[in-house]
Amino acid sequence: MPDSHPLPTTATVRVQRFNPDNDKKPRIQEFKVPLTADTTILDALHYIKAELDGSLTFRRSCRHAICGSCAMNVNGRNMLVCKTPLTRELDQQARVTIKPLPYLPIIKDLVVDRSSFWEQYQRVKPWLIPPDNVPEKEFRVSPEEVEALHNAETCIMCGACYSACQVIAMTKEYIGPHALLKAFLRVLDPRDAAPGERLADLDGGDGVYRCHTIFNCIDACPKNLNPTQAIETLRKLAQKRQAYEVERAERQKTLTQPVK
Ligand code: F3S
Ligand code: FES
Repeated sequence: MPDSHPLPTTATVRVQRFNPDNDKKPRIQEFKVPLTADTTILDALHYIKAELDGSLTFRRSCRHAICGSCAMNVNGRNMLVCKTPLTRELDQQARVTIKPLPYLPIIKDLVVDRSSFWEQYQRVKPWLIPPDNVPEKEFRVSPEEVEALHNAETCIMCGACYSACQVIAMTKEYIGPHALLKAFLRVLDPRDAAPGERLADLDGGDGVYRCHTIFNCIDACPKNLNPTQAIETLRKLAQKRQAYEVERAERQKTLTQPVK
């Protein structure tokens, strides 16, 4: 809503409803909610559930853009509703439309089934595979190496990128931007002992080459991360996989030594 307009006292929140027990297809239901400059979209959903319709179903937990559970599609864009001011998304008639994340099966109202999202996450083994010579005290990782991982580390696994990707819309035979970003994190981590194995796995038909560089994942990410760039880096590393494995093995010999 433009800043020049005086703030209305109420907003019209249009919510997609779907109860698989009763409904053949989703429908939009409108609710009037009180509006202040501080009202978030999640506040509006809480108001609806507490005051207007207790059957409205949605996920949320932290309310601080940390847990990733409140990702939804608002006016056609995926976002975290707990950190989005309602005023930012209102149109000239003070309306907003909220739907579940697209391309995923709806369980009820705004709650989607994220099974495929988590399966792909598990599939890339997102945990650290340590070397045999784990140091007694600590790994000595350089500031440059830490910096290279920083962005990928701040992903909160909200699913906004996954459900914005047109490749995911067409086929679930794709690892997806979220899991590829996690794979990037492990492949680049100097402490990880399996970069070659990881890159070989990502090189398959559902891996890094399945990305069509559509960029929706970047637009959707509420943390301003760049899965596309990570995927591009993984492609380049996959092409020189053996040399990269040797490089990693050499680096691991020095992991316990002070960083120069
Ligand atoms: Fe999908 Fe992002 Fe690639 S939207 S096609 S993963 S650039
Ligand atoms: Fe946790 Fe929004 S409620 S990220």
